[in-house]
Amino acid sequence: MLDKKLIEDHPYISYTKPILSDEEMLERSISFYEAMDSRRSVREFSNRAVPREVIENLLKTASTAPSGAHKQPWTFCVVENPEIKKQIRIAAEEEEQQSYESRMSSDWLEDLKPLGTDWRKPFLETAPYLIIVFRRIYEFATDGKKKNNYYVQESVGIAAGFLLAAIHNAGLVSLTHTPSPMNFLTKTLNRPENEKPFLLIPVGYPAEDCWVPDIQRKGLEDICVFY
Ligand SMILES: Cc1cc2nc3c(=O)[nH]c(=O)nc-3n(C[C@H](O)[C@H](O)[C@H](O)COP(=O)(O)O)c2cc1C
Repeated sequence: MLDKKLIEDHPYISYTKPILSDEEMLERSISFYEAMDSRRSVREFSNRAVPREVIENLLKTASTAPSGAHKQPWTFCVVENPEIKKQIRIAAEEEEQQSYESRMSSDWLEDLKPLGTDWRKPFLETAPYLIIVFRRIYEFATDGKKKNNYYVQESVGIAAGFLLAAIHNAGLVSLTHTPSPMNFLTKTLNRPENEKPFLLIPVGYPAEDCWVPDIQRKGLEDICVFY
């Protein structure tokens, strides 16, 4: 039972979920797993347009994620403007070229080989939308003082996961992209100092002739321990 004083001071709503049969639960858990297992990171996009309302719904879904003290410490910047996409591509490729040529360790480059990535990022112009996820380190209170958010990294990571799942569920594809370092995005998108770039996610349809690496995912025995 909830504390009476708490309910008086803060609004609460009753929350229930229907209890499913074991069979239905099993069936739903398998079908969701299979749906998610077919998600792939795509690096070859079509320039086919996607309705903006779809993107808005994907972002609303991302923002249903849990967050530390419900601060929802995220901002999603959506870039459709070809000129801004071009600026982002140029800046990202500049950083990535330096990374691939001198900043990444030989182990890292070796690990990337099967993915076939290099510093060239044409998808930053081809994809109809670039969603840049920013984490909000703090907020400004009404008196102008800084107010820290909590577990920002974890919260924004979960929201980004919801976003990737929503994109996939809508029949679209994405890439989780981290041009390194990403600070240029703050400048290009004119973001305030309390926001730090977290991920750059191109969204759209795959190119007609799209290929992805034939990777294998770890089995249950390698990722979990039951006690
Ligand atoms: C945090 C993070 C950063 C990533 N950064 C990049 C990136 O900068 N460029 C890229 O091509 N892929 C990037 N990826 C995508 C991974 O390479 C990809 O998720 C992995 O190879 C598994 O493939 P899948 O997403 O198709 O399952 C990133 C993924 C994550 C989770």
